[in-house]
Amino acid sequence: MKFQTLLVASLIGLGMAACAKQEPAKLAPPPTPFQPTASILDLMSGQIDPAADFLWDSVATITGPKGTEEKQPRTDAEWAAVRRQALILIEGSNLLMMEGRVVAQPGQKLENAPGEGDLSPEQSLAAISADRSAFIAYARALQDAGGLALKAIDSRNVDAFLEAGGVIDEACEQCHKKYWYPNGGTPPLGK
Ligand code: HEC
Repeated sequence: MKFQTLLVASLIGLGMAACAKQEPAKLAPPPTPFQPTASILDLMSGQIDPAADFLWDSVATITGPKGTEEKQPRTDAEWAAVRRQALILIEGSNLLMMEGRVVAQPGQKLENAPGEGDLSPEQSLAAISADRSAFIAYARALQDAGGLALKAIDSRNVDAFLEAGGVIDEACEQCHKKYWYPNGGTPPLGK
């Protein structure tokens, strides 16, 4: 215990000495506290895609033997469930924007077999790195679309919620057209 206290005290002392020597103009920018761990593919298949599917599937017209049923959130619990998924999608967009995230882990493959002319994860990462602000704009578009869904959920407006689902779909598609299948190889995602 005593030793630890001493060690901490001397480390603080060292830190202060180091600080004192630095001139303010030469201070390096503070390192980012973020540690991107998931790849973009991990985020797509583990977070973004499931959240979007949940939202898309929560409003539907289902025709069965007993006639037509309009599926939509009705109870407080059902609205709370879609709200959670909207937030996962919106916050997932922030994760996409973080610098230093790879498209795939070493050796990680797309679950969907690549079509002809599709970008490999490496090519996709190169395209992202070539113009990060463009990629961020696509992620922001997804975030805004999620925001529309959240607004509709908070006002329990099913029509607006359905419409937001379409805007989300378009945001996925636009980014994928740029960074996944620029040559139109892969068919639209199954929902
Ligand atoms: C900001 C860009 C961006 C947005 C927005 C985006 N994606 Fe992606 N997505 C990517 C990239 C990049 C890849 C990987 C492409 C590659 O490796 O060639 C990808 C791949 C995928 C994959 C393939 C995963 C696999 O392992 O095969 C799925 C599924 C997917 N996205 C779903 C979605 C859905 C659903 C949405 C919308 C709710 C969405 N994405 C929105 C960038 C985006």
